[in-house]
Amino acid sequence: MRVVILGPPGAGKGTQAARLSEHLDIPHIATGDIFRQAASEDTDLGRRLRETMDSGELVPDEFTNELVKDRLARPDAQDGFILDGYPRNVEQAEALDEILDELGTKVSYVIKLMVRGDDIIARLAGRRVCPKCGAVYHMETHPPADDERCDNDGTALVRREDDSEETTRRRLDVYGQQTRPLYDFYRERGKLIEMDALGTTDEVFERLLGTLGR
Ligand code: AP5
Repeated sequence: MRVVILGPPGAGKGTQAARLSEHLDIPHIATGDIFRQAASEDTDLGRRLRETMDSGELVPDEFTNELVKDRLARPDAQDGFILDGYPRNVEQAEALDEILDELGTKVSYVIKLMVRGDDIIARLAGRRVCPKCGAVYHMETHPPADDERCDNDGTALVRREDDSEETTRRRLDVYGQQTRPLYDFYRERGKLIEMDALGTTDEVFERLLGTLGR
């Protein structure tokens, strides 16, 4: 199964994609996670990525498409994958079609996670992440067992740099201008499934499995 999960910042794409990946035993490919890993390195590329992400803008398409092309060609992605955070605009969606054409396959489902504006703000404001293993928590809905430390490795949790008020505003603008047009792109191709993403993470996951017929 080849699934694309779309939705605004904080909709729960990463949370649901990680669970689905485990359930279906196919890789979870999140461009945001790949870029964050590279941005944490003390290199020129790392610094440039950090600047772009902290400003809320998108990383250039050419670079992003090449990275996804390489990742989708790896052996573990041949029987399926879950794409989270990619494509992000129509140009990337067209590039994805070309990449999959070359691999002789296509996207099975495009899921749009639908949430209200208030929920986006609440989900982003309460998010904390582990800088060591990348685990994602929410201080109200999914808190760590021990105060503000990661359950996996005890590392102190942090807020993502781009979850600041100013960068969140810019991310939402960029989403509105560049990512929203993707819904029409996939709707016209009969691929788009719009799914309510309100409720607990368990409820949303059950809904997602039902939507995918799993
Ligand atoms: P990226 O990391 O993809 O960020 P995003 O799309 O803004 O999405 P988020 O990671 O913020 O949210 P999410 O929907 O995954 O929500 P989550 O599950 O964490 O991208 C970051 C940056 O990288 C971009 O701005 C750009 O610069 C660059 N980039 C990435 N991809 C790119 C691309 N293709 N092209 C160009 N540039 C790219 O959940 C959020 C919080 O809510 C968590 O705390 C979670 O615990 C909680 N939560 C989740 N579900 C629920 C629920 N049902 N109820 C209550 N709480 C919940």
